[in-house]
Amino acid sequence: MLKVNDWNWTDLPEVTSTNDEALILSHQEKEGKYVVSAEMQNAGRGRRGRSWLGIKGNLFMSLLLQCPLEKLGDVVFIISLSLFDALKKMFPQIPLQLKWPNDILLNGHKISGILLEKGENDYLIIGIGVNVKAAPKSENLLYTVDSLADCGFITDRISLLKAYLQAFDENLALWNEQGFEVIRKRWLENAKGLNAPIEVHGVKENKNGIFRDIDETGALVLETADGVEKIYAGDIFYL
Ligand code: BTN
Repeated sequence: MLKVNDWNWTDLPEVTSTNDEALILSHQEKEGKYVVSAEMQNAGRGRRGRSWLGIKGNLFMSLLLQCPLEKLGDVVFIISLSLFDALKKMFPQIPLQLKWPNDILLNGHKISGILLEKGENDYLIIGIGVNVKAAPKSENLLYTVDSLADCGFITDRISLLKAYLQAFDENLALWNEQGFEVIRKRWLENAKGLNAPIEVHGVKENKNGIFRDIDETGALVLETADGVEKIYAGDIFYL
């Protein structure tokens, strides 16, 4: 295993999903921080049962972090904010925004995805995919998508992986020292659609309202015609 800061890193040529590799690793390890990346995924998973296409040159990685369940709500925001920070550090002028719960938008188009799964030994599996070289070209996509390269932001998956781990460690330290509020505030400052109308596609139903806030648990605060509601899971669309 290679080392990046205190992360133990393995890079593989081809896997089904880096989350699968991380799950296997979580059975073997009892402590420490791990990251598994791959050049290619042939059965990548997206959120809510969707698939995630493998395109060579894009970043596919999964982090293993021991995280108490009650802290998960905070960590979700650290994960996406760190990708935002890593990309901003590499390309200070890049027009990025955050989309609840954990997407990054470039010029309003999705360039990354994050899939959280449960590992063994209290490990959280943090699966991250970034369209570094190319975006999938399918008609069945839920959102418009793009890639860093297609927008003129040229990097490679390994440089981004290293920049990400650095940003993630810095945000973890900030959170340990100052708590969730500073993370929540920075996330909201860079969020798309705050105080604007959105539609939330939930598990059972869709809801329309104004995106007012993220609460201290990470839930989206939606002001609807029937009052203020908290949304814990779903896909949002800007109206
Ligand atoms: C989404 O639907 O937006 C989440 C996509 C998550 C994709 C990443 S790629 C690395 C890791 N392995 C997977 O199979 N999925 C995640």
